[in-house]
Amino acid sequence: MVPRKPLIAGNWKMFKTGPEAEATARGLADLVGQNTSVDIMIAPPFTALSQVASALEASPISLGAQNLYWETEGAYTGEISPGMLKAAGCTYAIIGHSERRQYFGESDEGVNRKTKAALQMGLKPVVCIGETESEREADKTFSVLDKQVRLGLEGLPLCAPEDIVVAYEPVWAIGTGKTASKDQAQEAHAFIREQVEKALGTELAAGIRILYGGSVKPDNVSELMAMPDIDGALVGGASLKPEIFAEIINFGA
Ligand code: PGA
Repeated sequence: MVPRKPLIAGNWKMFKTGPEAEATARGLADLVGQNTSVDIMIAPPFTALSQVASALEASPISLGAQNLYWETEGAYTGEISPGMLKAAGCTYAIIGHSERRQYFGESDEGVNRKTKAALQMGLKPVVCIGETESEREADKTFSVLDKQVRLGLEGLPLCAPEDIVVAYEPVWAIGTGKTASKDQAQEAHAFIREQVEKALGTELAAGIRILYGGSVKPDNVSELMAMPDIDGALVGGASLKPEIFAEIINFGA
């Protein structure tokens, strides 16, 4: 099997001004040093991208965006294109986060267009999927994940496994302190990998990284990362403080 290098990603959501984000990124870069045993990414708000990019110049930490629009340019007030993100120093772009789906009406079709646009621009999409609490209670977890993978990853251009990332984030575990148990997460990840295989083929499915997200903390990251189909973490709240996020990054140490 293709070895999958873990990816630990921080989603800063709508937190931190430019100077605050820059200071946090510098603090994290100092703590992480030249650690390259895992890939690391942080996604600050758009307004902080350039400051964080300069803070990370000498660091192996990559920069990510929290969203993008699929057009290359045009009259789309308030939107940001993949090319703009690339020029701002981004390597990754989070797409279809549950907060975007919930508050901004993002659909699987939109996620698909954004994912394609990111890949075409050479950005690595981190495609977020996950069921809500009521969907889990109604035994719909697998049908929801199946649909999100099928529609979200449909007809992608040819790419290498390291160029696309999927993040499983059960909506009921985001920012709630409730984490999926390691077995619940592994079950979902294994299922997602099977659906990725149907959508993108065996080689991609074997090599693609599937991150877990939802209340990841220093004290639960190791047991999650020990599961065979969990290849990293997408961390919200616990990525905002450099010392705590560095502990998560160093989970194996
Ligand atoms: P959380 O957020 O770690 O604060 O639960 C995760 C996410 O939304 O990506």
